Amino acid sequence: MTEPDRAGAVLAIETSCDETAAAVLDGAGRVLAQALWSQVAEHARFGGVVPELAARAHLARLPGMVEAVLAEAGAAPTAVAATTGPGLIGGLIVGANLAKGLALARSLPFYAVNHLEAHALSARLPGVAEPPPDFPYLTLLVSGGHCLLVETQGPGAHRVLGRTLDDAPGEAFDKVAKMLGLGWPGGPALERLAAEGDPRAVPLPRAMRGRAGCDFSFSGLKTAVATRLAARGAEVSQREAADLAASFQAAVAEQLADRARAALRTVPACATLVISGGVAANATVRAALAEVAAEEGRRLVAPPPALCTDNAVMVAWAAIERARVGDPGEDLFVSPRPRWELGGLPARAA
Ligand code: KG4
Ligand code: ZN
Repeated sequence: MTEPDRAGAVLAIETSCDETAAAVLDGAGRVLAQALWSQVAEHARFGGVVPELAARAHLARLPGMVEAVLAEAGAAPTAVAATTGPGLIGGLIVGANLAKGLALARSLPFYAVNHLEAHALSARLPGVAEPPPDFPYLTLLVSGGHCLLVETQGPGAHRVLGRTLDDAPGEAFDKVAKMLGLGWPGGPALERLAAEGDPRAVPLPRAMRGRAGCDFSFSGLKTAVATRLAARGAEVSQREAADLAASFQAAVAEQLADRARAALRTVPACATLVISGGVAANATVRAALAEVAAEEGRRLVAPPPALCTDNAVMVAWAAIERARVGDPGEDLFVSPRPRWELGGLPARAA
């Protein structure tokens, strides 16, 4: 699927966490069909993703979803892609095996896609930003499991500049939301509650601010919220909870902005700051990063929230970007891998 094959179509599968997703894109990156099923209801009563349940749910739903997108797309795929890491191994196996089976049966190339690369490249999907950001750009990837600042140089070419030393920001959102009794996943609920609160009401720490390097830390902030709540002892009022949520959200946004500023100053060749991952769906976070980008003379590209959270469109797009630079994909012996650094090679079967 190199340049002459742009008329082709890619079928892609995403099953690395708790979203079951399939999509078909044409060679130019237009979405012909997509399906996404969030497993939130399956896991909510456990307060987080249960890996075994997630794998079984992917297995139950994925085949029907793939059939549906293939029927809707009306174009036979010329390549198949699946997220093969990083993520929960059970789900990765389900998605990778279905994709490999289709590739084998139809004699199509198979792309083993790195989930983090898919998030990083999603900013270049047609329709997200006009013109699409040129390489290299700086990507801030902030989700429930990841927190990275990366120089995105091209498909397969990524330089990690900073990462979290403890929690990911989405994890911090989820834990604080749980403390406030907002259920799981907590990010969107906390954002709604924060809208009623005063972000200056509760003084909270800003870890790493002004420090050299581009690493992050969120566990101190989470602990500060827990300590504050414990000190209140009795039931906190709705007002107090909203103030705490707003103050927490402001602290996260400020920390992300501070670290992104530090990173931007080390990559003058990057004209664009891209944000992706579930936390990039947060309006306060987006506003703080827009401000930093403007101050540093860069352009901010933030894909719409539905493309920031996990989906199969970005997986198909990552395969298309790779194909365009002549990458033929992987053979079918490639194994899913729960840990897979950006820039690392996909694993081979032993
Ligand atoms: O990228 P994603 O869908 O899945 C991975 O973790 O890979 O991100 C999910 C995370 C969860 O922690 C969720 O609470 C957080 O992103 N999140 C948000 C918002 N929407 C999702 N955090 C803050 N504000 C939001 N609006
Ligand atoms: Zn993700």
